[in-house]
Amino acid sequence: MIQPHGSDKLNPLYVADAAKRAALTKEAQKLPSIVISSAAAGNAVMLASGYFNPLTGFMTLADALSVAKTMTTTSGLFWPTPVVNVVKDITPIKGAKRIALRDPNVEGNPILAIQDVTSIDVATEDQMKLMTEKVFRTLDMNHPGVSAFNTVGTTFIAGPIQVLSYSYFATEFPETFRTAVEMRDLIKKNGWDNGNVVAFQTRNPMHRAHEELVKMAMERLHCKGAIIHMLLGKLKKGDIPADVRDACIRKMAELYFKPNTVEITGYGFDMLYAGPREAVLHAVFRQNMGATHLIVGRDHAGVGDYYGPFDAQTIFHNEVPKNALKIQIFEADNTAFSKELGKVIMMREAPEGHKKESFVALSGTKVREMLSKGEALPPEFARPEVAKILMGYYQSL
Ligand code: ADX
Repeated sequence: MIQPHGSDKLNPLYVADAAKRAALTKEAQKLPSIVISSAAAGNAVMLASGYFNPLTGFMTLADALSVAKTMTTTSGLFWPTPVVNVVKDITPIKGAKRIALRDPNVEGNPILAIQDVTSIDVATEDQMKLMTEKVFRTLDMNHPGVSAFNTVGTTFIAGPIQVLSYSYFATEFPETFRTAVEMRDLIKKNGWDNGNVVAFQTRNPMHRAHEELVKMAMERLHCKGAIIHMLLGKLKKGDIPADVRDACIRKMAELYFKPNTVEITGYGFDMLYAGPREAVLHAVFRQNMGATHLIVGRDHAGVGDYYGPFDAQTIFHNEVPKNALKIQIFEADNTAFSKELGKVIMMREAPEGHKKESFVALSGTKVREMLSKGEALPPEFARPEVAKILMGYYQSL
């Protein structure tokens, strides 16, 4: 199986031993504690799951700056985005070397992790700007990722963590939330470990273009299996909630994929909407879960018009050093339904003489727009069984 990023073995930061976890949970009750941001909680869950291997905790400000500028930590590890615990006010933990991190997303703010504090640094306005500009390619506070990154504070609490829970992901999505450790086990159990396994990132219910992209990648890469790996954390307003997406994707896979060729799973992280940089992060953690390939199509992890449609592909050619990652990218062109051909194709692969007007452009945004206006989704956009679930959801709003 493909090696994890940066180490031979996966090092998940969840304390798997129940007795040890109980002892740490008891200890944590007595430690100075702080409620962390949703973004930091997502980072903790990704570290716990092994997806953020080989990181051992939250980055220092120096590492966050270095990663933003050069996609490498100060010690030379390739990493595309800051993985940080940033807060506004450190009064509750002032002077403490060992602290408890409380979960902002679960009622009563239970303890999520214990952190050994190695440094606390306050970023200057210029440093915040530099990180924002490098990671998001914009300073516009209307960008949901920029606003999330710039409203949690400027105090960076760095240091290793031991994670005691998977937050709400394991309880709310027991059938779907999987750690990188579980994904590697699953790949092995399915007998996919001696061949190609393609991962598909998504934050949408899968429309026709999504479905065909996965099928094209599977066929062309001669994959043993595909992993549909959906984001289960927070999204911007208007995006479709995880339970509805999950139901749509399961229905589509059940009816339109060959049995035992696709796994439907998810990970616990808030969407960054960082386009190209997030695509690289996506590649890192799909390598950690054992995928050999990641599909990157049009406007991957993008939002609005902040990124060019294929910036998330070019970054792998222009900015990711050659041997930085072992996982490979399956680059997909704009994919659309051709009325002329009666099927979904990549536009660059249209036969000669194919008319542009014959394409029905497909996108998650367009699907959401139609649904919110109460319009029925045509079969070129979504499978009827999927459209039914989506229309039911929109009518319930
Ligand atoms: S994302 O934010 O998670 O990337 P989404 O769920 O819409 O959003 O996309 C999942 C993947 O499908 C991404 O790799 C994206 O580039 C690709 N994709 C979605 N729609 C199309 C399309 N019409 N043509 C090509 N690629 C697409």
